[in-house]
Amino acid sequence: MDDVPDSPRRSREETSLFRARRYLMCPPEHFRVTYAINPWMDPAKPVDVPLAVAQWEDLRDRYRALGHTVEELAPRPGLPDMVYAANGALVVDGRVLGARFAYPERTAEAVAHLDWYREHGFRELRAPEHINEGEGDFAVTATWLLAGRGFRSSPLSHGEVQEFLGRPVIGLDLVDPRFYHLDTALCVLDDAVDGEVMYYPGAFSAGSRAVLARMFPDALIAREEDAEVFGLNAVSDGHHVLLPQTAQGLFAPLRERGYEPIGMDLSELLKGGGSVKCCTAELRG
Ligand code: ARG
Repeated sequence: MDDVPDSPRRSREETSLFRARRYLMCPPEHFRVTYAINPWMDPAKPVDVPLAVAQWEDLRDRYRALGHTVEELAPRPGLPDMVYAANGALVVDGRVLGARFAYPERTAEAVAHLDWYREHGFRELRAPEHINEGEGDFAVTATWLLAGRGFRSSPLSHGEVQEFLGRPVIGLDLVDPRFYHLDTALCVLDDAVDGEVMYYPGAFSAGSRAVLARMFPDALIAREEDAEVFGLNAVSDGHHVLLPQTAQGLFAPLRERGYEPIGMDLSELLKGGGSVKCCTAELRG
């Protein structure tokens, strides 16, 4: 294998792996499961709010201990899903594409997010024309924006985000209702190198699986048992990967690739159909 020509992709060694991030999170003070808009939600199951708060604080404090900045968005009563801050916007190069939620129960969250960005010095804001649920359905790699559709975000939002951010958008069709947002089925492990992602193929249509295989031949492929416990709903800073501790099958493959997996317990937040990534919006640029 000595005369293999240089790969056009950079190797992970050539990039600085860890990069300190700025995240936005929203405390789950008002978190409840009072309606069901995904198959994980069951209003008959009680939520332990103090436990949800403790688990959420653990995640926030872990980010801070790793050297990241965590901003907090004030939760609003009557918006029980606001804890899933990833859905409120997509921020790339300091430009903010607001959300437009698919279900009326979450509509008012979009304004709360846009207000926060306006008050925190972000100048390039767009209230979207088409339905998109922020980072729930948009994932950022070095070159591309991966964009989910099928359950929440409208395919029309893909053109809108491409035009607004000037990044090429790759549309991916989600077909399994358990994985209703892209961030439940795919995670970007290193946004400085295009190939570094992990995903669960069963969440995608046959055509989208072929696209993913073509774009990411070296991806970490997750098994159903790890995807089902939200193992792909993870956050990576390029080195540390925070993910549900129950996704045990992902730990060794992540370590083999040079990442440091950190298991978190967000069992209460799972009752709303979300985990680590859903609770975390990244403020880029
Ligand atoms: N209950 C919320 C919903 O169904 C959960 C959102 C999870 N967030 C995410 N980024 N996947 O909309």
